[in-house]
Amino acid sequence: MCLLTAGGPRQRQKTFRYELLLPSFSKRHKHIFMSAPRTPLSFDSLLDALEAAGEVTRLRLLGLLCEAELTVSELVGILGQSQPRISRHLKLLVDAGLAERHREGAWAFFRLADPGGALARDLIGRVDAQDPTLASDRARLDVARETRRKQAAAYFAAQAAEWDRIRAMHAPDAQVEAAVLALVGDAPVQSLLDLGAGTGRMLELLAPLAQRAVGVDLSPAMLNLARARIQERRLRNVSLRQGDIYAPPVERAAFDLVVIHQVLHFLDDPGRALAEAARTLRPGGRLLVVDFAAHEEEALREHFAHRRLGFSGEEIAALMQEAGLEMVETRLIAPRAGETGKLTVVVWLARDPRIISDDLRNASREFA
Ligand SMILES: C[S@@+](CC[C@H](N)C(=O)[O-])C[C@H]1O[C@@H](n2cnc3c(N)ncnc32)[C@H](O)[C@@H]1O
Repeated sequence: MCLLTAGGPRQRQKTFRYELLLPSFSKRHKHIFMSAPRTPLSFDSLLDALEAAGEVTRLRLLGLLCEAELTVSELVGILGQSQPRISRHLKLLVDAGLAERHREGAWAFFRLADPGGALARDLIGRVDAQDPTLASDRARLDVARETRRKQAAAYFAAQAAEWDRIRAMHAPDAQVEAAVLALVGDAPVQSLLDLGAGTGRMLELLAPLAQRAVGVDLSPAMLNLARARIQERRLRNVSLRQGDIYAPPVERAAFDLVVIHQVLHFLDDPGRALAEAARTLRPGGRLLVVDFAAHEEEALREHFAHRRLGFSGEEIAALMQEAGLEMVETRLIAPRAGETGKLTVVVWLARDPRIISDDLRNASREFA
């Protein structure tokens, strides 16, 4: 449910005070506070959108798209209706500007569009959170997500020992790491967070630059390998925690460098992961994301559990903006001639635009 992310009434009151202190907060949480679309709709567009939304299956579809971007087959599974029927309803939502279709290889993802999606969020946000129809759709979405999470966990448990080799198969690793180090620079890092830390290679690379470092990963098998690596390298400032990137088990507003390295393309909701990462940043903190540029290697889905075929710069920039961050720099690392099977990797660096001051730091702690 869209509005659930705002927490209970007490927290909502707190966030409002915080918003007064820090204007960028409202940008970061626009899905909570926005009562009108960013771009106004014309009268005709509003009428089209309301007509399209005013039907049971389409309203249910909008409810689901408020939660995540989803493929047709996932929506078919959740709603238990035929594929042609769901496709027809989706087309009507797209035509009315409420949803958009994003084709990527053999899969097509549907998500809320801009600006019509904001209207959809408003509409769905007005439905009773306990409403049985939307609540049971959400419950089925949760089951589908849990199934995927278990599949991913099984994949990583099976591949953990091989992971460093697998990553090097597709990415020009040495050049990527050089770019990561160059972008991080040598300014002191107080606290580093590596989300989806895997076998701990990024911690090995970056923890020596930080006073303290925390690695979070869902997979105990990956964490075991990371633990062995950290001990072998005697990185005493590193701690590891099992946890989900969507609800990282770390303090809010506490890290000045957060890294998400080769994780986003496995996730069903990369935007949510970035928004959660942004919440862990201190004012002025930086988020470094490393992933593949958009590609067409469909086989990576089948053989290596990828969900997304990389990301375009525009998509990441939009997700960073949604998360309340501003892009600082982007570096593309293309494979060298002869490096067959490798893909272009991109390093995106974004920053929390809030100003670092003790007052604001205290305010952010109060909120956290
Ligand atoms: C491809 S590996 C990358 C590991 C590491 N960042 C690296 O580049 O070597 C992806 C990692 O993301 C983790 N992961 C996948 N989904 C996750 C989630 N929802 N929360 C936390 N970790 C997750 C996996 O367990 C796996 O260790």
